[in-house]
Amino acid sequence: MAPQSDGAATFDVNTLLTAIAAAPDANAAMQIAVERLKADLPHYTWVGIYLLEGDELVLGPYLGKPSPHTRIPLNRGICGAAASQKATIIVDDVNADPRYLACSIETKSEIVVPIMLNGEVLGELDIDSDRPAAFDAVDRALLEHVAALLAPKIASARARGEVLPG
Ligand code: SME
Repeated sequence: MAPQSDGAATFDVNTLLTAIAAAPDANAAMQIAVERLKADLPHYTWVGIYLLEGDELVLGPYLGKPSPHTRIPLNRGICGAAASQKATIIVDDVNADPRYLACSIETKSEIVVPIMLNGEVLGELDIDSDRPAAFDAVDRALLEHVAALLAPKIASARARGEVLPG
């Protein structure tokens, strides 16, 4: 992928993706993804990963203000909608979306990207921004790539019976 530019900040997307791919296990990969996305993308105000447990999304690694939504049923929130629809959802104005579960009063827009393997949802990436309409096709492509790297690592950890945060 080409370097991504966001105002003053420019970073090498390939460095980010390589770091996630090279992580030794699912926990490390999720931690690296959250840390690098938050550090490298100034418009990513809150970055977190939810893991699907039964019919609930359980909050795993995240950076940003603590969220009251540590467990989200699949029929609630933008998070629940993205997992149920097995599709990325971008919301330009969270306050205009009746599905939205508020995490912070400053949040203006959100993107939720399912982490899937072979059509099965394992979890999702959830990013909030304090900027309205902060997320576009470039963010979507980047985050779907990150999700595709995380999916086999999470699936392997689960197959081995490892306990993942969340
Ligand atoms: N806004 C999400 C809930 C999670 S918080 O943003 C961290 C939603 O509507 O599902």
